[in-house]
Amino acid sequence: MKKKILVTCALPYANGSMHIGHMLEHIQADIWVRYQKMIGNEVWFICADDAHGTAIMMKSREMSISPEKLIYSIFKEHKFDLKSFNILYDHYSSTHNYENKYFVKKIYYTLKVNQLIKEKIIFQLYDTKEKIFLPDRFVTGSCPICYSSDQYGDNCETCGAIYKAIELINPISNISYTQPIVCSSLHLFFDLNMFKKKLNTWINSGVLQKPVFNKTQEWFNIGLKKWNISRDTPYFGFKIPDMPEKYFYVWLDAPVCYISTFKELCNKNKYLNFYEFWNIDSQVKLYHFIGKDIIYFHTLFWPAILESINFRKPTRIFVHGHVTLNGKKLSKSRGSLISVKKWIKYLDSDSLRYYYASKLSSKIEDIEINLEEFTNRINSDIVNKIVNLASRSASFLNNYFSNILSFELDNKKLYHTFIHATQLISYFFRKREFHLAIRKIIELSNIANQYINDQKPWTISITKNYIKLHNICSMGINLFRIIMICMKPIVPDLAKRTELFLMTRLSWNNINKPLLNHNINLFYPLYKRIDLNFIKKNF
Ligand code: MSP
Ligand code: ZN
Repeated sequence: MKKKILVTCALPYANGSMHIGHMLEHIQADIWVRYQKMIGNEVWFICADDAHGTAIMMKSREMSISPEKLIYSIFKEHKFDLKSFNILYDHYSSTHNYENKYFVKKIYYTLKVNQLIKEKIIFQLYDTKEKIFLPDRFVTGSCPICYSSDQYGDNCETCGAIYKAIELINPISNISYTQPIVCSSLHLFFDLNMFKKKLNTWINSGVLQKPVFNKTQEWFNIGLKKWNISRDTPYFGFKIPDMPEKYFYVWLDAPVCYISTFKELCNKNKYLNFYEFWNIDSQVKLYHFIGKDIIYFHTLFWPAILESINFRKPTRIFVHGHVTLNGKKLSKSRGSLISVKKWIKYLDSDSLRYYYASKLSSKIEDIEINLEEFTNRINSDIVNKIVNLASRSASFLNNYFSNILSFELDNKKLYHTFIHATQLISYFFRKREFHLAIRKIIELSNIANQYINDQKPWTISITKNYIKLHNICSMGINLFRIIMICMKPIVPDLAKRTELFLMTRLSWNNINKPLLNHNINLFYPLYKRIDLNFIKKNF
């Protein structure tokens, strides 16, 4: 039966350009979405920019523009970057939109009425020069436990201690480079502990990967802390209605944007029924793709918020690891960051999509990019194995048969072995085991190429057994077609060129039916080999 599915990716911060680390998540989700659509499910795929918070406000100050102007230009840039990687969002919005403000306020009032928000005075570091309370990442000092210097306000990278920023020794503001003072201020806290039981039931219902589940159990054991959902002015975000000078914390309105982005999509598409997707008893599947650094927000805060407003909770949270480049974390200061723009300037998007897919699994392991391995993999798999299969068959079809495929296949048994294998590939896609899908696809490509090697069409053309020659080359093209149907969610551009060449739509529905007595186009190189020296020079 056809399933209805809503898929989201985490919202990229609107304080800078996207890099290929971000792209891992969009590519993983996009491949999965394309596969689900291909097998006939109804899938809606949404995302948005995360446009609020201190970092964005500071960045706009630095650039002497308004935060609104900054987030609008980044929004356009992000949308362009996502398109250049063929990420097919049905709707891409921003947390700064009208619908989001509406839902955030509605949630706030509901929480308040149900007494789920508590007021408390807290002490924080205050930058007297810039007149701003300092978020943990905007202050450094020595660790109160091991005394190592240059540590952020939330935890120590040397000894792993977790502490409050006011405990730092000799703190320095990273904005004005002056010594901050401790100031008090009234804040709003969301009582997470009230949801302990319901959260535990949800977490135990198979919605999380095993290590993620284990992590949440650790947090449960430590005890769920009250969550501060307010921030002092100056801040860029939504104002709290009845509290002058206070704003909602960016991490409150960000996940709510999953709801409001979908609402905007409903406004555009009258066929969609908002409540069918978000009602407590919704039968629609809801999947969130996220990175391992934001698990707490998605497995505790977010379902608790949904629970508190009587909305449905996610069906599954799919967590992935982080991308590292030549063994290092991606970071601007370390020079190990490749922007989406740079990638697209020198390379195509299919190559990164394929390379990531060849490493992606349902696990949370980090993914290491190695440009030499990348080049070898693309050249060996896509050029030498897959595209070559088409090229070596196509030349005979063009020379002897006017590019028309034969009436029958040379080896029906082999064709059916391939069809059988696609069921396993389909299963791997469904389970997000893309690396296994690719392994199987390459195994099939090897078999297909071996078949051509064994049949030796070049000698048959000399002996002039034209029927045999025709059937063999048509067989080669049909095996290539099956492989490319499986590849379609991964490499959409190559799939499009293949469709043009084969003059047919690559679709999972009619995979069983070979192309017979079918006109194809003149073959043209479907994929360009990557030059390692060129890569080394530019990256
Ligand atoms: N704005 C928040 C998410 C809010 S969701 C309601 C955020 N933004 S982010 O821009 O920092 O990250 C967006 C996503 O990209 C996150 O899932 C994050 O894990 C992922 N990645 C950022 N850098 C990454 C890598 N180097 N590798 C893989 N994913 C990475 O967090
Ligand atoms: Zn320490």
